[in-house]
Amino acid sequence: MEKGNRANFGSKLGLILATAGSAVGLGNVWRFPYMAGQNGGALFIIVYVVCVLALGIPCIMSEFIIGRHSASNTARAYRKLAGKTPFGLVGYLGVLTGLLVNGYYAVVSGWCFEYIYASAAGQLNGDPQFFADFFNTFEKDPVKPIFWAVTFLIVTHLIIIRGVKDGIEKASKMMMPALFVLLIVLVVASCMLPNAWAGVEYLFKPDFSKVTKELFLGALGQAFFSLSIGMGCLCTFASYFSKETNLTSSAMQIGIIDTVIAILGGLIIFPAAFSVGVSPDSGPSLIFITLPNVFQEAFGGIPVVEYLVALSFYILLSLAALTSLISIHEVSTAFVEEEFNVSRNRSATIVTAVSMVIAVLCSLSLSDLDIICLGGKSLFDWLDSITSQILLPLGGFFTCLFLGWYVPKKIVKDQYTNWGTMPGKYFGVYMFCMKFLCPICILLVFLHQFGVI
Ligand code: PFF
Repeated sequence: MEKGNRANFGSKLGLILATAGSAVGLGNVWRFPYMAGQNGGALFIIVYVVCVLALGIPCIMSEFIIGRHSASNTARAYRKLAGKTPFGLVGYLGVLTGLLVNGYYAVVSGWCFEYIYASAAGQLNGDPQFFADFFNTFEKDPVKPIFWAVTFLIVTHLIIIRGVKDGIEKASKMMMPALFVLLIVLVVASCMLPNAWAGVEYLFKPDFSKVTKELFLGALGQAFFSLSIGMGCLCTFASYFSKETNLTSSAMQIGIIDTVIAILGGLIIFPAAFSVGVSPDSGPSLIFITLPNVFQEAFGGIPVVEYLVALSFYILLSLAALTSLISIHEVSTAFVEEEFNVSRNRSATIVTAVSMVIAVLCSLSLSDLDIICLGGKSLFDWLDSITSQILLPLGGFFTCLFLGWYVPKKIVKDQYTNWGTMPGKYFGVYMFCMKFLCPICILLVFLHQFGVI
């Protein structure tokens, strides 16, 4: 292994928090609750947990194995193992996906900043129509969303340029505990509302009459998105792991932290929504239109509490988004730095600049100016669907095939067992997942999206 003077995480806790920070994002606090809301609550959670355990964790392991073995950016990591075969392209695919996601994820992250500002300034008061108008007017504004997305990218940039240990790891060590505390406070506040129990019950009491194909495929897609699989984030972070890092237990811890946080996200949203009789399945508009209204109605009796709940919620969301955006940014930054042999500062600047251009174009495509739309769809929607429905599953699919069928088994086993210093428990099960279970399941989700099955 070539380690040279390459950066490393300084501690086990830092490594876990940074990698879990990549996984914990808008996907947990926003997408998971509304997916659960649309797919039968508790039933979705059960299927989701099975997907995380049987498919998600083995896929995290694969990216860890490729990243730590090669100790380089994602493109080079795949290239080193793939030689001249087309598998080498999978790493480049990850970097490209990362760059595109970086641009549009910054836009939604920027919205969170606007909502922190609006709730701090006490602007989030009104009837349900007010909240819909507030969001639509903001989204259609040609300047404000750009301002916030650019601000978000600058904050990310400032963390990234400080490096792996002093930037990413230190920031994660501060932000992840803060995020966890906010989550717990909000869960308690939400569960103390009148009729909150109905929401808790919906989340934990399965209704088996709701078993559908969509439920399984939705849960699998959500597991991949939420665990940041298929885009090189985990592979890049693993390239900073040390020889002693236990890959299996790290992958399990990250899967568990991510799932617990998603369920806690549900425990904020469901009890609050049920207590005011609102259905928590309104899709993407849930956190920016439905929730501010829910908070107002649920906690409006005591204005200070309503103020603090709304403010804490959007701070929570921004922290979650920031820890993910850092990891997405790092994929491209490490790539530019190592492939073009430039300083970290310069590579981060290039990535931030390109991401800003994408974010500006995405924001404009949603604005009133009605530009950069194709086939009736905004650039934002195009990037969202191309990355999450095509590029991420493709990356995950080929990674499984690569590891399961192509990479020499000795390399995989050495990484799995830390060069024979740990028992290789379940190695056979892991290889079975890589060779068959994971690629088949990803393929099914992929084909289903296009109506083939
Ligand atoms: N896992 C993040 C979330 O749940 O919001 C999103 C994400 C981050 C997806 C990084 C993909 C990725 F590579």
